[in-house]
Amino acid sequence: MADSTSPVTVQVGLGERSYPIRIAAGILDRVGEDLRKRSLARRYCVISDDYVADLYGERLMRSLAGAGITAGLLSFARGEESKNLQTIAELASALARQGYDRGDGLIALGGGVTGDITGFLASIYMRGIPFVQVPTTLLAQVDSSVGGKTGVDIPEGKNLVGTFYQPRAVYIDTDCLATLPGRELLGGLAEVIKYGVIRDAGFFDYLESQREAVLALDSDAVSRVIARCCEIKARVVEEDEREGGLRRILNFGHTLGHAIEAASRFRIIHGLAIAMGMRAAADLAVRGGMLAAGDAARIRALLEAYGMPVVVPPELDRQEIRSYLQTDKKTVAGRVFFVLPEAIGRVCITDAVRPEDIDAVLDSD
Ligand code: NAD
Ligand code: GLY
Repeated sequence: MADSTSPVTVQVGLGERSYPIRIAAGILDRVGEDLRKRSLARRYCVISDDYVADLYGERLMRSLAGAGITAGLLSFARGEESKNLQTIAELASALARQGYDRGDGLIALGGGVTGDITGFLASIYMRGIPFVQVPTTLLAQVDSSVGGKTGVDIPEGKNLVGTFYQPRAVYIDTDCLATLPGRELLGGLAEVIKYGVIRDAGFFDYLESQREAVLALDSDAVSRVIARCCEIKARVVEEDEREGGLRRILNFGHTLGHAIEAASRFRIIHGLAIAMGMRAAADLAVRGGMLAAGDAARIRALLEAYGMPVVVPPELDRQEIRSYLQTDKKTVAGRVFFVLPEAIGRVCITDAVRPEDIDAVLDSD
C-alpha cells in the first residue's frame, strides 16, 4: 500500500509513448528527484491555476530546485472559464518570451482544467514538447491526468478543440486531497464509482464496504482506490487510445450527465451531473430489459451512500436536456449513444433507447 516511502506505480503501456503513474502520499516533494532521473527536458515550466499555485506551487518548485532542475511557473485564473484558446495563446507567448524551446518541458500542477490546458499547450508549443501531470483534484487523479486527452472549450461547446497527447509521467499525491472542497471530492468519487460499474464488480464491492474509510480519506483506502481507477483507465486506453470503440465505455453516465450539466448552466458540477446520469442510465438499462432491477438499486444506493444526488432537479427544463442530447459530441448523425450496464462490472454501448424511457428516467425520483 502507498505511503510516503513506497509509491504504487501503474504503467500505461503504449509502446514508445508508455509512461508511469506514481501514486503516494507526499510524492509532490519527490517529483524533482524522479524527473532528474528521467531526463525528459532541460528545464521545465510549471503551469497551474492561481489557487493551486498558491497552495502547492512553492513545494513543487522546491522539489525541482532541490534536484537541480531549473524551472519557472506560470499561472492563470482558476476555473473552467479559463479553459479556452485565449489562455493557450497567453501562455504560449509567455513561454516564448521567456525563451522556452524544444528542449524544455511543461508540468501541469492542478485539476482537470490545468491538465487539459497544459497538455494541449505542450502538444502544440514548438510542435510538441514533453509534459508531465501532477493532478491535485480527485477527478484529475482518477481520470483526466491519464490517457492523453487534452483540449479547451470554444463558445460552441466544451472540449471541442484538442489533441490526443500523452504525458511522460503522472505523479499523484494523495495528500493534496486534504485541501479539496467536499463538493469537488464528491465529483471525483462519482468517476470512481463509474469504474466499478463499467469494469470491476470486486472494486464496486470494495467501494460499498469501505465507504467510511474512503470518505475519511484514509491514506491506504484512497491510494488503493486511485490505483485501481488508474489501472482500469490505463487498460482501456491501451486498447483504444483514440476512442474508436472501447474507450467510449468511460462515458458511462455522461450522455445524460453532460446534458444535465449544460441545462443547469454548469451550476451542477460535472461529477454530480454524472452521478445523476449514472442512476438514470442504470434505470434505462432496467427498462430496456438488460439489467436486473436489483443491480440498478445497488448502483443508486452506492451513489447515495457517498452523498451524491441521483434525482434530476425538477426545475431543470426537460426539453432543454433532451435538446442537449442531440448536440452532444457522443451523438453521431442524430443517433444518441448510451453506455448502459448489463451487470455491475459490465456495460454495453447502444443507441436503442426509447425516447419515452428517457423521459421517464429523467422524471423518476
Ligand atoms: P478544476 O481543475 O477546475 O479544479 C476544480 C477546483 O479545485 C479549482 O477551483 C481548483 O483551483 C481547485 N483545486 C484543485 N486542486 C485543489 C486542491 N488540492 N485543493 C483545493 N483546491 C483545489 O476542475 P476538475 O474538476 O479537476 O477538472 C474538470 C475539468 O477536467 C473539465 O474541464 C473537464 O472537461 C476535464 N476533464 C478532462 C478529462 C480528460 O480525459 N482530459 C476527463 C475528465 C474531465
Ligand atoms: N474521460 C474519458 C476519457 O478519457 O476517455
